Amino acid sequence: MLLAMLAGLSLPGFFCTTQKAAETEEQPSSPWRNVYDSAAHYVGMQACRGCHDEVYKTFIQTGMGQSFGVATKEKSAADFSPAHALVYDTALDYYYKPYWSHDSFYIMEYRLLGQDTVHRRVQKVDYVIGSGQHTNSHIFSSNGYLYQAPITFYTQKHKWDMAPGFEKGTSSRFSRLIQLECMSCHNGYPDFVAGSENKYNGIQRGIDCERCHGPGSMHVQEKMAGTIIDTSKGPDYSIVNPRRLPTELQNNVCQRCHLQGIAVLNDGKTFYDFHPGMKLSEVMNVFMPQYEGAQDKMIMASHVERMKKSDCYV
Ligand code: HEC
Ligand code: HEC
Ligand code: HEC
Ligand code: HEC
Repeated sequence: MLLAMLAGLSLPGFFCTTQKAAETEEQPSSPWRNVYDSAAHYVGMQACRGCHDEVYKTFIQTGMGQSFGVATKEKSAADFSPAHALVYDTALDYYYKPYWSHDSFYIMEYRLLGQDTVHRRVQKVDYVIGSGQHTNSHIFSSNGYLYQAPITFYTQKHKWDMAPGFEKGTSSRFSRLIQLECMSCHNGYPDFVAGSENKYNGIQRGIDCERCHGPGSMHVQEKMAGTIIDTSKGPDYSIVNPRRLPTELQNNVCQRCHLQGIAVLNDGKTFYDFHPGMKLSEVMNVFMPQYEGAQDKMIMASHVERMKKSDCYV
């Protein structure tokens, strides 16, 4: 076997032919027209709502529908009563006080020396990330550059505390960048300024329909033009209905966000390039760190991995 391979390597034509074969093999296609056609583009949730109002009304009540929003009193799940709304970072010796002034949300960072306030910084919060099923974390914009604030409200513990990744002396205070990887798991696709690390011209208000159904422009155009398919008899190929995909591709729709690890994009790909109906591995691969003696340990957003290890899946 090894000898045959070595013999193959020594033939001058070997590399060329196998490489060509690999190239022609790697032309993925789909019967759904909104998967690979670059003419298909995003139209936004309000466009879908026009015809699928019932689906819209239920979807926006889910955690995914509520995953991101402007910081308002209604959006926040947190407790601002004086007994709760104070966090002390014991490692770096800063206090954090979240509060509302009129209808704006602020976090005050301060340090005490005896009775004296020797440092004070007030930061307005612009967005809340997280539906509040588990937590609310907080984001602010500085001329469109987004950063995460250092404190989080933990709903189930009913407690303000340092944000995940800011504990035990690791707090970067107000300088953690909100990059596209984070944003593209927690929201509809933003209008990201290419070449920047964390600048956005526009951001959505929650995960939207097209993250699971793919770009909707062809579907909307065809329905508006009166081309109606009897979907009880078969698929409408202008838009992906995940129910109709083979199991692996179904899992990939959710895995785009429900497997958090070390995400490595393929050459030339961006976090925008995955469409429902593709294999995720055409765009990126996610590697899960595993430590000896802790093989069963999994992080929060690793639902796909958990499922694949479960007895029923196996
Ligand atoms: C102008 C009206 C209209 C708009 C706007 C519209 N749809 Fe539809 N959609 C329909 C109709 C009618 C059907 C059922 C008949 C058909 O598919 O032709 C349908 C079917 C579907 C299906 C089922 C397809 C299948 O094969 O089972 C999905 C999924 C879907 N729409 C998602 C969306 C999404 C997501 C949006 C927004 C991007 C959207 N629709 C916007 C009218 C619309
Ligand atoms: C765009 C990224 C994204 C995609 C795609 C996605 N999810 Fe989610 N999902 C999330 C995030 C983020 C949360 C946590 C939302 C929150 O509570 O703030 C979540 C929450 C959930 C929850 C918790 C219940 C709830 O109402 O919050 C379930 C169940 C779930 N997703 C299932 C799925 C399934 C099944 C799919 C595939 C069909 C899927 N998700 C696709 C990002 C995504
Ligand atoms: C690979 C996708 C992915 C990335 C990247 C990611 N998250 Fe998440 N995150 C999720 C999913 C999925 C959940 C839902 C977990 C659950 O409900 O069990 C979640 C949960 C959360 C929650 C709790 C929501 C709730 O109330 O239930 C917050 C807050 C959060 N993430 C913030 C962030 C921030 C901030 C970043 C970036 C700095 C980030 N996440 C990066 C997928 C991701
Ligand atoms: C987290 C992924 C996800 C999001 C977000 C999502 N859908 Fe779906 N949608 C699905 C799945 C999965 C199915 C198939 C459900 C089934 O058949 O059991 C589906 C089915 C549908 C159907 C087929 C008919 C029906 O009622 O089952 C329509 C229409 C539809 N979705 C429209 C929408 C619209 C409009 C939005 C946004 C308001 C939306 N979806 C958001 C995953 C999603």
